[in-house]
Amino acid sequence: MNYRQDFPIFKNRPDLIYLDSAATSQKPQAVLDAVYGFYKSMNSNVHRGTYPLSEEATEAYEDARKTVSSFINAAHPHEVIFTRNATESVNLVARAYGDAFLNKGDEVLLTKMEHHSSIVPWLQLKDRKGIVLKYLDVSKEGRLIFDPKLITAKTKFVSVTAMSNVLGTIPDLKPIITAAHAVGAKVLVDACQSAVHIKTDVQALDADFLVFSGHKLYAPTGIGVLYAKTDILNQMPPFLGGGDMIHEVFLDHFTPGELPNKFEAGTPHIAGAIGLKAAIDYVNKIGFPVIQKIENELTEYLLGKFKALPYVRIIGPADMMGRGPVISFVIEGIHAHDMAEGFATKGICIRAGQHCAQPLMDYFEIPATARISLAIYNTKDEIDAAIRTLEEIYKYFNP
Ligand SMILES: Cc1ncc(COP(=O)(O)O)c(C=O)c1O
Repeated sequence: MNYRQDFPIFKNRPDLIYLDSAATSQKPQAVLDAVYGFYKSMNSNVHRGTYPLSEEATEAYEDARKTVSSFINAAHPHEVIFTRNATESVNLVARAYGDAFLNKGDEVLLTKMEHHSSIVPWLQLKDRKGIVLKYLDVSKEGRLIFDPKLITAKTKFVSVTAMSNVLGTIPDLKPIITAAHAVGAKVLVDACQSAVHIKTDVQALDADFLVFSGHKLYAPTGIGVLYAKTDILNQMPPFLGGGDMIHEVFLDHFTPGELPNKFEAGTPHIAGAIGLKAAIDYVNKIGFPVIQKIENELTEYLLGKFKALPYVRIIGPADMMGRGPVISFVIEGIHAHDMAEGFATKGICIRAGQHCAQPLMDYFEIPATARISLAIYNTKDEIDAAIRTLEEIYKYFNP
């Protein structure tokens, strides 16, 4: 099957070679139609109107929640909170859960391969409350090293990525979650990169929290998800205050609303949620076995091409074991930004920089990497074009 044809951008820009889907994915027609369809014939606010148009919009918005809930196998749709993005979801947890339940000296365990979104909110909590941050290490091959000794009686929270946005590594989460739960710690899984490539099952993982952004999953920007178990959401105080998240408001106090509204203050991104539903329907229709077959074949093909170029150093697992279609690389003597510019002159979009993972760059003692990330619409021809370009860039810098 050729899924590329489902994405109108490739018809509108026939020369585009887009190898930056880990930054944001392109959008299929079905998602564009869903967003346009909402504004065209259903536009109204949710949870407020007593007229049919608003009831319809509310139903579509809540239907999107149900779709997300089954997509990640949540026990109940009210365990799905719509946010702006994964970053906001993590901030919500660090603020609402962290401020209420974590105290001076409590340990929060992160990993050295986390995105800044899963580090900075905890650094901020450290400044507010004096928690202690610890980090699981990464091997030189780019694999997560789970040292159970880092989980102690003081560990109260663990946050770990389900797929590194730099290395492509897919850590084995189960032993980490089991060990964290054994000492009563809660676990947040950052599924921002993984959600579009591998099946997410919050119940099988026994994750307490899980976050992702719609825009990396073929959905619009501005819509994100926070999953949390019902009992935790019930215990947590609200994050933002305002309309829609309350039960009653008086001049001197308020009472919060029921789940999930308690965590969704203000008018939500209704069209975004509806777009996210369309994106998930699209992914479900293809199915993860097919998605993985396509993406694994492309990843293996690219890794093979890289291995044939002795000057390319892959930063991350060099084989297919426990990795996704996100491949970082460096070339001695050529800055990643110069590489990305070279690619750009050929109409090839790749990402270069620290990828919001400065601690990981420091660990590998490199200033930056170039990164190619693949999705179901990419082709081997595009990889061939990228490799040809890389060879030209190398020759330019090494005449
Ligand atoms: C692993 C990971 N976590 C979190 C984020 C943050 O996502 P957003 O910028 O959509 O909030 C990203 C974005 O690149 C990511 O790759």
